[in-house]
Amino acid sequence: MNLRKLHSISIHNKILIPFVFFTTFLAGLLLIFGSNTIFIYMERMLRSAYTSGQFSDLQTELLQLKQRVFWVGLLISGGLVLFLMLVFSLIIGVITRYIRRFKAVAQKVSQGDFSQRIEVTSDDEIGQLASIFNEMTSNLQISTQSVIQEKNRSEAIIEEMPAGVLVTDLQGDILMLNRTVRAIFGVRETEVMGYPVARMVPHEDVVSQIDTVVQAEGGTEETEWAHEISSGGRKRFKVRSSLVRKALGEKLGVVTVFQDITLEKELIELREGFLRTITHELRTPLTSIIGFIELARGGSGLDDRQKKYLTVSLECAINLKTMINDILDLSKLEAGQVELKRAPLNIYDLSEDVIESLVPVLKDKGLTIKNLISPQGSVVYGDKEKLRRILVNILSNAIKFTHEGGIVFSSQTQGSDLIVRIKDTGIGMDVEGQKVIFEKFRQLDYSSKRMYEGIGLGLSIVKELVELHDGKVWAESRPGQGSEFFVQLPTVPPAEKTAS
Ligand SMILES: Nc1ncnc2c1ncn2[C@@H]1O[C@H](COP(=O)(O)OP(=O)(O)OP(=O)(O)O)[C@@H](O)[C@H]1O
Ligand SMILES: [Mg+2]
Repeated sequence: MNLRKLHSISIHNKILIPFVFFTTFLAGLLLIFGSNTIFIYMERMLRSAYTSGQFSDLQTELLQLKQRVFWVGLLISGGLVLFLMLVFSLIIGVITRYIRRFKAVAQKVSQGDFSQRIEVTSDDEIGQLASIFNEMTSNLQISTQSVIQEKNRSEAIIEEMPAGVLVTDLQGDILMLNRTVRAIFGVRETEVMGYPVARMVPHEDVVSQIDTVVQAEGGTEETEWAHEISSGGRKRFKVRSSLVRKALGEKLGVVTVFQDITLEKELIELREGFLRTITHELRTPLTSIIGFIELARGGSGLDDRQKKYLTVSLECAINLKTMINDILDLSKLEAGQVELKRAPLNIYDLSEDVIESLVPVLKDKGLTIKNLISPQGSVVYGDKEKLRRILVNILSNAIKFTHEGGIVFSSQTQGSDLIVRIKDTGIGMDVEGQKVIFEKFRQLDYSSKRMYEGIGLGLSIVKELVELHDGKVWAESRPGQGSEFFVQLPTVPPAEKTAS
C-alpha cells in the first residue's frame, strides 16, 4: 500500500476547508453589514430625537430595534444552520454512497469474486482509496489464480500418475484417490469419498497397514498383494503407506501408493524358471563327467601327473556341481517349491554328524572344534536334511574364514525355541557387512585377488531354510575378532506353539 498517498488524503482539502471559509466569510459579511445597518439606524434615531427634542420616544424605538435585531439575527443564524445542515448532509450522503458501494464490492471479494472493482470517479481521498482497493483486489486475483493453477497442476499430475495414489485421514476415511486407484477397485469418486477405506479396499492387510502407519509415529509400511482388478485380470501390487505431517509436525493423514508389479514379478518368475531349467540341464551332464573322471582316476596305467590332473579336474567339477546345486536350491526355495518333512530332531546328534563330515578340512587347516550342545533335551522340530544343510553352510564358512583357533558349537533355549550358536575365531566382519551377508551373491571380499572361494549363496540358502522353519538367523561379529552365527529354531510344531 502507498503510504504517501494515504498521508495526502484529507477530507477537508477540497470540500470542507473551502466550505468553512465560505460560511465564515458569509457570516462575517452579515455581521459587518448588520452592525453597520444598526449603527446607521441608531444614528438616524438619535439625530431626529435631538432635532425634535423628544427623547422619550427614543427608549421605545431602541426597544423595538432590539426586538427587530433579535428576530433578524435568529432568522439569519437559523438560515445559516439550515444551510450548513443541508451542505453537511449532502457531503455525508456522498460519502455514505461511496461506503455502500465499497461494502458491496468488498463483500463480493470476500466471497472469492476477485473480478469486482470499485468505479473510480474522482481523484480525491475516496477516489484514491478506491484505486488502492482495486489494486489490492487485482493483486489478490493474480496470486489466487496462480495458487489455483498450481493446485490444478498438482491434482492433474496425481490424477494421471500411473501408480495408484490414495490419501486417507487419521480416522482412515478417504480424502483423495486418483484415476488408477479408481480403476483398480472399480469405484467412482462419489461412491467412496469421505467413507472408511475398508468400503473400497477389500484387503484386510492393506487396511491394517494404513492403521499401523497412523498409530506409529512415522515411517513407511509395505505389503504385496494380488488383486482381481475391475477391468479383469489378476494383478500384483506393492502397497506402500507413509504418514503425512503438517509443517509443524502434526499428523495429517496417510498416503498409500499402489504400484503394479505384475510384469516385474512375471519377469522374475520367468528368470527363475529359466535358471532352474538351465541348472537342471547342466547338472545331468556334470554328474556323468564326475562319474567318468572318478572312473578314469581309479583306472590302471596312469602316471602320477595324469592322476593329479584328474584329481584337480574332479575337484573343479564337484565345485561346479555344488554351485549349480546351490543356485537350483535357492531358486526352488524362492519359488516356494521346497517342502519340509518335519519331525522332532536332536540337534546335538545332527551337529556331531556335520562336524564329522568336515573333520578332514578342519584338520587340514589345523583348527580345533568343540561341541557344547547338550546331548539331551536339544530337540528341535525340523527337517533333518534341510537342517544339516544349514549347519554345513555355516560351519563351512567358519572354517573358510578362520585361519587359527577354532570353532565352538553351543545352544540355549528361548521360550519354546532353541538357539544354536556357532562361534569362530576367524576374520570377523563389520556391522555393515553383517547386514548384507544373508542377501544373494553378497560377499564381503570384492578385491581383485580374492582369497576365498564361493559365489555368495551359502547364507542366503541358510536364511531361506531357517525362515521356512519359522525360525530366525543372525550374526554378531567384529573385524579381526571372529564371528558368531545364531540359528533360532522351534522345538514344537507351529500349532502347539500358538496354543501354548
Ligand atoms: N564366519 C564368517 N566369518 C567371516 N565372514 C563370513 C563368515 N561367514 C560368512 N562371511 C561373509 O559372508 C559372505 C557370504 O557368505 P556366503 O556363505 O553366503 O557366501 P560364500 O561363502 O562367499 O560363498 P558360497 O557359500 O556360495 O560358497 C562371505 O563371502 C563372507 O564375506
Ligand atoms: Mg558360504
